[in-house]
Amino acid sequence: MCGIVGYIGEKNCVEVIMAGLHRLEYRGYDSAGVAVVTDGALKCVKSVGKLKIMDKKLEDNPLSGPLGIGHTRWATHGAPSEVNSHPHFDMPMEIAVVHNGIIENYQELRNELQKEGVTFRSQTDTETIAHLVRKYYTGDLFVAVKRALQDVEGAYAIGVVCKDHPDLMVAARHGSPLIVGLGEGEAFIGSDVPAIMKYTRKVIYIDNGQVCEIKRNSYKIEDIQGNPVQLEVKTVDWDDAAAEKEGYPHFMLKEINQQANVIRNTLRGRVHEGSEEVNLPDMNISLEELRACQKIVIVACGTAWHAGMVGKYLIEKFAKVPVELDLASEYRYRDPIVPPNTIMIPVSQSGETADTLEAIRIAKSRGAQVASIVNTVGSSVARESHGVVYQHAGPEIGVASTKAYTSQCTAFALFTIWLAETRGAMEKAQAKEMIASLRELPDKIQWILDNQDDIKRCAEDPKYRDAQSALYLGRGYNFPSALEGALKLKEISYIHAEGYAAGEMKHGPIALVTDELPVVCVATDGDVYDKMVSNIQEIRARRGIVLSVATVGNEGIKAHSADVFYIPECFEPFSPILVAVPLQLFAYYVATNRGCDVDQPRNLAKSVTVE
Ligand code: AGP
Repeated sequence: MCGIVGYIGEKNCVEVIMAGLHRLEYRGYDSAGVAVVTDGALKCVKSVGKLKIMDKKLEDNPLSGPLGIGHTRWATHGAPSEVNSHPHFDMPMEIAVVHNGIIENYQELRNELQKEGVTFRSQTDTETIAHLVRKYYTGDLFVAVKRALQDVEGAYAIGVVCKDHPDLMVAARHGSPLIVGLGEGEAFIGSDVPAIMKYTRKVIYIDNGQVCEIKRNSYKIEDIQGNPVQLEVKTVDWDDAAAEKEGYPHFMLKEINQQANVIRNTLRGRVHEGSEEVNLPDMNISLEELRACQKIVIVACGTAWHAGMVGKYLIEKFAKVPVELDLASEYRYRDPIVPPNTIMIPVSQSGETADTLEAIRIAKSRGAQVASIVNTVGSSVARESHGVVYQHAGPEIGVASTKAYTSQCTAFALFTIWLAETRGAMEKAQAKEMIASLRELPDKIQWILDNQDDIKRCAEDPKYRDAQSALYLGRGYNFPSALEGALKLKEISYIHAEGYAAGEMKHGPIALVTDELPVVCVATDGDVYDKMVSNIQEIRARRGIVLSVATVGNEGIKAHSADVFYIPECFEPFSPILVAVPLQLFAYYVATNRGCDVDQPRNLAKSVTVE
């Protein structure tokens, strides 16, 4: 996610833009920039790093004018740098564009434009939009933007200004949020309400496929084919804090509820409708290396390690490559053996976890090829890896990882299909089926989110809310689901919770079962369902409190459970991506019922950058 702000009116647009960008800093903060139309020219200041660096730069290089656009970046294509920071320009530097989203076909657009003589300055997907607008510009900026967007595939929210038009800016949206703010003799654009709430509460929420031309006292909205559109002007009554969380009480709940779109973004540009192949161009592993690979080592910490376990099960099942899964904090101290043709896959949301970084260095020094799954573009893990699969989950503010986990599992599913096909371990027909199943997941996640009230009610029950301890059980693909569910509960509600392989019950944990112990059992449809039912009956026989996670349509399990959370039917190997969501919500609601600070739990940090 990035932050976009635009302004036209009597004020100095730079002051309005910077104030707005600061309100949007939670959306991304690796670089920033502002472009201003003033005195018949287009002027720009950019900076790398947090916005305060931009503030300083503007003090040293004052910029002002009645019209401008600004951007704070969360990199998706091209590492954080001044040249990659927005705004981006056409060749003559007369048209400026800021963008939030992912242009899926940017590479082919770039190639075509370069053939037409365009020279690119950056590695970003966004710059293609600026050159496309120039290509179609014949004096009307609104028309040129609409035409340019007809060539673009992917997600975007953009702001565009041109030195020829000091009286207007153009904005457009498809898949990324964008609002227009209306003032007295002034107007605004923004990625989110916080950006402009200081100046106006009259906003228009632009819909997908819509383009607007905004002037000081007027605006017009059309679809990209040029058909006029009428949208309601709404009045926002949020306070600032609520606005950053888009009305949710906590970032964690906002991020849980973003997961349908997050999985769409993780898949975006890598698989297409009907496709039989996965496209992972940044993995940087040659076909020869993939085919010669004898061993994969997955290293990570915490939630990322649980995602790595999902990855292990998927890779071994479908790509038939042996996978060693290691806690990075253990790997780095056990003098690991790294045989020839080893690929290491580090997993990290922040990309700055100290143990994971050290594990990478050890593996590289012993000859491993390293391709990481990471959320933060340009992070240390990404920079120190040979290749990368970016999660595109956007900044995760809540300390308890939620959307990063499901996007990591999705990235492993993509990698598995890609690896299996490359090694001839999977027929194209099966790959096509699995890709289709992946593409169905966002809607299935949304179904769970739309039915979360049942989970919220369940979490209010004292037998859960006031529990002293809890056990989470799962098998197969959902053994990591049990581990992750337990971690979520313990780290934000402070209830001791343990995740266990259900087959281990008889080897100890069953001694814990009493009528005060909630036992969460992941019993979704699949090969191990009957085994899970046996475990559930063992627990019930000892008066344990069974909270089951099951597949929609399974009514029979209610007879064995105090409560049941449902997930939609899905391809079993991908079920951890769905199972995570009710368990995240359960942990969240139990913790909030206990009055815990779910966004910043005691003793925890978002990124463990020291040992
Ligand atoms: C999970 O909710 C925790 N925030 C923690 O376990 C986290 O997953 C772990 O520290 C790894 O962080 P990383 O993904 O940024 O490397």
